Amino acid sequence: MPTFAYRLRAAPQPTSVEDYRRRARRRVPRMAWAYIDRGAETEATLAANRSAFARWSLRQRVLTGVESPRLGTEVVGVPLSMPILLAPTGLSGLAHASGEPALARAAERAGTRAVVSTAASYSIEEVAAAAGERHFFQLYPGPAGTDLTERFIDRAREAGYAGLMVTVDSPAIGNREAERRAGMGAQPVLTPAAVLDALIRPAWTLGYLREGRVVARNFVDASGARAGVEAVKQHTKVVRPDMVWDDVARMRERWDGPFMVKGILDPDDAEKATALGADAIVVSNHGGRQLDGAPATLDALPAIAARVADRTTLILDGGIRRGTDVVKALCLGADAVMIGRPALYGLATAGQSGVEGVLEILRTELVTTLTLMGVPSVAALGRAHLLPAA
Ligand SMILES: Cc1cc2nc3c(=O)[nH]c(=O)nc-3n(C[C@H](O)[C@H](O)[C@H](O)COP(=O)(O)O)c2cc1C
Repeated sequence: MPTFAYRLRAAPQPTSVEDYRRRARRRVPRMAWAYIDRGAETEATLAANRSAFARWSLRQRVLTGVESPRLGTEVVGVPLSMPILLAPTGLSGLAHASGEPALARAAERAGTRAVVSTAASYSIEEVAAAAGERHFFQLYPGPAGTDLTERFIDRAREAGYAGLMVTVDSPAIGNREAERRAGMGAQPVLTPAAVLDALIRPAWTLGYLREGRVVARNFVDASGARAGVEAVKQHTKVVRPDMVWDDVARMRERWDGPFMVKGILDPDDAEKATALGADAIVVSNHGGRQLDGAPATLDALPAIAARVADRTTLILDGGIRRGTDVVKALCLGADAVMIGRPALYGLATAGQSGVEGVLEILRTELVTTLTLMGVPSVAALGRAHLLPAA
């Protein structure tokens, strides 16, 4: 008689980032989901970030004897177990009350690092205290006429962050219609339907009531959530259309460690960032949340790599959902990638362990992809490993 071995579980483990996405969608209220998952205006750039990957095929070579491809790399002097970082995402507490500390701990357990947003649900110091490793801090400048920018930089240094990443693609907040239609905004709109929507998700709602992690804590004083509305108003001032390259140069001067510029899509801007001493440039369109109609990041990457890859480190984000996507980005000139939404899908699904699950899936997919391609390491990847898709 045949014997079967069963593993009893309430539900099968997610097997892909898309699995996590489906689960996450069920766990958070519609308003939070629109904030996490949607993009600006027609969402053309959001979609382009994904479809750009489909235009490339991977070159398969056989009988190469490649057994355990090496994923290890280094970004701005920090050794990583694989070329995948967690992108900064503001208000991660909307996905799950455990927020950025859970993201940071999941990243370090996977041997990589998180970039912690200025607009995080936990303060600069709270995340640093909860983490076992030094992560990176993403800087949005403070409101004009204040010294908040300098204070953020100094706080990040004092809290021990290993690198500063300045986001430069947000002189205005992108027109995120889908998000606003769902009631999400600087001050969320609470309709009876929105309240009901939260109540039918008790785990999320309890986390919200217990932790109150839905405002940007770096803008809140020690009294916490009671200062929430004022904090959110401050946060909306973190768009600085007046900012120019000289401002970024001053930030570079104030920060003595690795310095990164996020939100570059044009080779001329990549040149400027490199010239002022950026140790890394993030080719990013903010996950299709800012300028709708901006190019897909994978499409923007080759020209930027041709201009500055010999002088700085290139990180790409936008639309990475598979190990094969990571490989294609590295072939076209990236040294590493970042994931934004995939980490939030994991976080919304199961807190820290969900983020660990997402990173483990991507790691396994990377290993499988390199093995099937016959490439011994991520460092060996290059343009010769890609073919234009038919
Ligand atoms: C919910 C959410 C919040 C974000 N908040 C920030 C932020 O505070 N600062 C920033 O520089 N980028 C922010 N981003 C952009 C991400 O850092 C990253 O560029 C983008 O998510 C990458 O695309 P992906 O989501 O397809 O991986 C945010 C993205 C999302 C989805």
